Amino acid sequence: MKIGIIGAGNIGGNLTRRLTALGHDVSVANSRGPETLKELAEETGATPVRAEEAARGAEVVVVTVPLKAVPDLPSGLLDGAAQDVAVIDTGNYYPRQRDGRIAGIEDDGLTESRWTERQIGHAVIKAFNGTYAQDILDRHRPAGDPGRMALPVAGDDEAAKRKVRALIDELGFDTVDAGGIDDSWRQQPDTPVYGLRGGTEAVTEALAGASPERKPEFRG
Ligand SMILES: NC(=O)c1ccc[n+]([C@@H]2O[C@H](COP(=O)([O-])OP(=O)(O)OC[C@H]3O[C@@H](n4cnc5c(N)ncnc54)[C@H](OP(=O)(O)O)[C@@H]3O)[C@@H](O)[C@H]2O)c1
Repeated sequence: MKIGIIGAGNIGGNLTRRLTALGHDVSVANSRGPETLKELAEETGATPVRAEEAARGAEVVVVTVPLKAVPDLPSGLLDGAAQDVAVIDTGNYYPRQRDGRIAGIEDDGLTESRWTERQIGHAVIKAFNGTYAQDILDRHRPAGDPGRMALPVAGDDEAAKRKVRALIDELGFDTVDAGGIDDSWRQQPDTPVYGLRGGTEAVTEALAGASPERKPEFRG
């Protein structure tokens, strides 16, 4: 499958490694340009591209940049993607450490992924946001393995969600349907499921036990 990855850091780099290893055709971009991605390209066989080119022909696009950088992404980011492209959003809001205060999230009460959807002008599927980047490399397991981890996946587009869940299964993880994007606060930072290394039952319970309250340390 043709996959575009925008962001080549902890998460984008490791998704590039695993998805190329599984035989996918991966294009990867960062903010500094393809010439700075030579090493990752040589290691993985991925094609380094500019951010505006990453989605071309892609059936899946992963947006995995710091939240504060989302408004800086090129306009028309998804032009040229497959018509039914699934856009994965791995983002988290860290107002104090990294992102600064984002009014849409704090004043308008948007979930982090709804805010991202509005910035990029496309529906997203929220996945991997609570997964340690290293776990993508180290903790994948075959289907049915008793130690297989499960990841929550939220999104409004059911077909796109199915496509993303199938890809995550291929990557070696179970998934739990965490509802739509308005429900995705249940997997944001500081919730019980965030960073949880558990199976489907534990993830389902953790999602159910989440509180919508945003604590002061997670506010700008
Ligand atoms: N680290 C984790 O374990 C983890 C786990 C789950 C979710 N997340 C979330 O996933 C997102 C990415 O995290 P990360 O740790 O992978 O970040 P990171 O290591 O800081 O990497 C960020 C990447 O985004 C690129 N980037 C920044 N601005 C860009 C722009 N305008 N256009 C294109 N690329 C741009 C950077 O490129 P340059 O280097 O060229 O600037 C870099 O490759 C964050 O929201 C984070 O909270 C992280």
